[in-house]
Amino acid sequence: MRHLIVPSADTQYWLDTIKSNDWIESGLGILSLDDGMKAIPLNKNAPGETDSFWQNLPLSELPREDKPAKHWTDLLDRELYDSLEDHWPRAYEIIGDVLIVKLEEEVYSHRNKIAEAMLKQIPNIRIICADNGVTGKFRVRDLSPITSRDGSNETLTTIRENGQRILIDPTKSYFSSRLSTERQGNLAAAKQLSATVGRKITVCDPYAGVGPSMAGLLNNDELIDSIFVGDLNPQAVELLTQNIEHYLARGDSRINATILCQDARIWKDDQKFMGAVDFLLVNLPHETLNHLNDLLPLMRKGTPSLIRGWAIIDRGDESSVQEDLESLLLENGAVDLELTCQEIKGFSATKIFVRIESQQTFL
Ligand SMILES: C[S@@+](CC[C@H](N)C(=O)[O-])C[C@H]1O[C@@H](n2cnc3c(N)ncnc32)[C@H](O)[C@@H]1O
Repeated sequence: MRHLIVPSADTQYWLDTIKSNDWIESGLGILSLDDGMKAIPLNKNAPGETDSFWQNLPLSELPREDKPAKHWTDLLDRELYDSLEDHWPRAYEIIGDVLIVKLEEEVYSHRNKIAEAMLKQIPNIRIICADNGVTGKFRVRDLSPITSRDGSNETLTTIRENGQRILIDPTKSYFSSRLSTERQGNLAAAKQLSATVGRKITVCDPYAGVGPSMAGLLNNDELIDSIFVGDLNPQAVELLTQNIEHYLARGDSRINATILCQDARIWKDDQKFMGAVDFLLVNLPHETLNHLNDLLPLMRKGTPSLIRGWAIIDRGDESSVQEDLESLLLENGAVDLELTCQEIKGFSATKIFVRIESQQTFL
């Protein structure tokens, strides 16, 4: 590697000058040579030895041990890293080839250096975006693209979950890869219900987003006869439609699919959906408990049925939520009711994220 050889006393001056021109090779320190001189590592952008910028100082090829970077922060300038040590992002989320990272104010001005280091160190990602939180009633992410391998700011991407492809744009529709285990649970529960009733079942997912739950459910030829899926967010429904078309094209074309962009609470107003659903998914965690009453008319009568919902509730309220929901279902004609309300993860200091699972027969 090329180094600029400088008298020890001039090291700081040359280091600052080289850094301000972005010619320093990051991640490597300054070498002390036997003759009291110092060697400053240069990157490929630094000019050649004959350039007058170096004021006749020699440039020398010196071998450096190739210490492979273990972490993207190893690629940052050491001095910069140390000066902001507590503020560099410790976590990030990857959705397909999009990396999403929350940046503290202190390091925001260094976002390009962060993004370049991440692109260099983390394989299979194409674009790095700063995460400005979720916005609007559809809770989509506000992302600022920082840099990308291909120069494009496109955030449309594809993930594979439990072996299935899901088309997703985190700036257009809510999506959480953390709920992948819950979606596996949906598939297991659907299979169990189908075995209990001895036929294919009808599934309704009226808060479907881009449809990640359908990826697994529609991959089983003998499981589903119809799906009613939708979302209130038109941009989510565009991707949902593409995903569903893809899932149906690969398997059993006899599955009927209805895809609607509408408020989940009005599915019941269309006669053809009333009493038509065996398995209902309710995934609007801040509103699940309030919306449930409007969804119950969709449930099929006279046969075992299943509801799986997710909600954010106050810590310690599991029993009272369970009792309230049991009362609601009994009032709506449920018999043989088995309802559980189980914490899946913490949400905040005072709130938890729970799964509600209810098996019953509506009379
Ligand atoms: C928590 S997300 C769940 C998305 C998807 N089921 C998943 O697991 O990725 C809730 C979804 O409900 C949609 N939504 C919000 N209010 C709605 C309503 N009143 N009716 C239907 N969908 C709604 C949002 O746009 C969002 O896509």
